[in-house]
Amino acid sequence: MAVTRCVCFQKTFCDVLAVARENGWSTAAEVSLNMRCGLGCGGCRPYLQAMLDTGATCFAVRVDDLPPKPCKPEPWDIQ
Ligand code: FES
Repeated sequence: MAVTRCVCFQKTFCDVLAVARENGWSTAAEVSLNMRCGLGCGGCRPYLQAMLDTGATCFAVRVDDLPPKPCKPEPWDIQ
């Protein structure tokens, strides 16, 4: 299973990235301030920043403190 969304606020990274690009946001803090993503459990914050930095919207689950790595979504990751 991949990380493709902010679970707390039920927003996919695809949707978040589109809004971020429209508004010129480049930091996870800007996304959080405007869309609330990242303000719940906080688990998506590193993924949000990686999304903004790389344009990827699907990431392998992190098992260390390194930046999240983009991955190819499985069929069940896409909704
Ligand atoms: S998953 Fe985004 S704040 Fe919890």
